[in-house]
Amino acid sequence: METRVDEIAERIYRLSTFLPAVGPKGFTFNQFLVDADQPLLFHCGQRSLFPAVSQAVARVLDVRRLRWIAFSHIEADECGALDEWLETAPAAIVTHGAIGCAIWLNDQAPRPPRALADGEVLDLGGRRVRRLDTPHVPHCWDAGLLYEEITGTLFTSDLFTHVGDPPPLTDGDLVGPAVAAEKHFGFTAVTPATGATIRRMAALGPRTLAVMHGSSFSGDAAAPLESLAGFYDDLLRAAPRR
Ligand SMILES: [Fe+2]
Ligand SMILES: [Fe+2]
Repeated sequence: METRVDEIAERIYRLSTFLPAVGPKGFTFNQFLVDADQPLLFHCGQRSLFPAVSQAVARVLDVRRLRWIAFSHIEADECGALDEWLETAPAAIVTHGAIGCAIWLNDQAPRPPRALADGEVLDLGGRRVRRLDTPHVPHCWDAGLLYEEITGTLFTSDLFTHVGDPPPLTDGDLVGPAVAAEKHFGFTAVTPATGATIRRMAALGPRTLAVMHGSSFSGDAAAPLESLAGFYDDLLRAAPRR
């Protein structure tokens, strides 16, 4: 198993591990490293990926320098290797939204988490990440995303999930492959808030989308976000009523 490293925005690195046996065409699991005075890792990866992903981090910076560990929601690919990261990086602090700290980290994390409020900014020194609460988007009550304000990078977690091992970065269509994956897996908890939550991300005007499964995107990212929001609105409208 090997994890490839690609810089998708200035000092923002995609650490991608392709697992060919997952899903219909294999599946990438992507962590993101924000290289700043206080480096931040977004997504821990599963425990089985930790050796490969930590070696990938070490190609960019000393793993012991990691200061922040963040993720969107409680699932093995998002935070399974949390304990391993905190053990390897003794100064690292896990940070999550208030709900996630209350329902999971305050009890389960090996050291106390730093809870971030909706809209709160962490100044990393050279990079600034804003926490955005997105409950149940893509899924899980504790879900949230991060937006790096200097590079305009939105860390989308499972939004725009697509299969296979596509290029690290594209300016092409993300929505078509994401809709196909949604139809295959049905991974999003579609509620009346789904479209509105995604439109709130579009309003930020991101220039890069750091996608957890598949290619990241470079360009006018408001357009694919609006389009994805419309897809989920249509899905909700088409749902059978009781
Ligand atoms: Fe997920
Ligand atoms: Fe995921």
